Amino acid sequence: MKVFIAADAAEAADKAADIVENIVQSRPRPHLGMATGSTMVGVYQSLVDRCQTGGLSFAETSIYLLDEYVGLDSDHPQAFRNVIRANLADLVDLGDDALFGPDGSSSDLEAEAQRYEQLVSEACIDIQLLGIGGNGHIAFNEPGASFEGPSSVVTLSEKTRRDNARFFASIDDVPRQAITQGIGTILRARKVLLIALGTRKSRPVRDALEGPLSKETPASAIQLHQDVSVVLDREAATLLSTRRPNR
Ligand code: F6R
Repeated sequence: MKVFIAADAAEAADKAADIVENIVQSRPRPHLGMATGSTMVGVYQSLVDRCQTGGLSFAETSIYLLDEYVGLDSDHPQAFRNVIRANLADLVDLGDDALFGPDGSSSDLEAEAQRYEQLVSEACIDIQLLGIGGNGHIAFNEPGASFEGPSSVVTLSEKTRRDNARFFASIDDVPRQAITQGIGTILRARKVLLIALGTRKSRPVRDALEGPLSKETPASAIQLHQDVSVVLDREAATLLSTRRPNR
């Protein structure tokens, strides 16, 4: 595992964008697994800047969403498909029909989760971006989730709903369910890139990187992957052991 500790959020975003750019430039048809959430905003802005100044092209790239809320209208600005469009997909030269995600408004959610699992498995993700929840979740795999699990319909924890209430008018508007890639799905990506910013993430980051493998910290599952990069700002890294290499 390579851990990069940046001076601030902007440097972390650029470092993460460097890692993504390297994948995009080195594969003929890159398949990117993309997360949403506030951590990713700077990363995507950095990628958009590189594309708009002509140094990077997403023309041959496909993007696969990590997860999607259940029950939001298709035009809801917080539906993750719309978030990724607003922050990245619509701002770069991504091809038509190159953005994939689970349909959270499907009338058969279980079947939709299975369809998405199949799609992602066949796509073979070159790099999977991950944020980390305040409770240690990755994607919407909440504490207790199986490390082998496939994509599925999940119930969001109250902690996650409270954390994400900032994106909605009130907590009552935060969906209670989501379709998420499973931890097993995520671990099949060729490379995993976890990004965390701010003091709020320092405890889950420490537990994920230096704690035991534990279902109580779903992000600790990344220790099982052979090719993981972690990009942190100083605040998110404050609880890490000082002897960690690769700083
Ligand atoms: C989003 C996702 C979540 C977030 C995590 C951190 O697609 O899967 O796991 O990455 O909740 O969210 P932020 O970045 O808003 O703190």
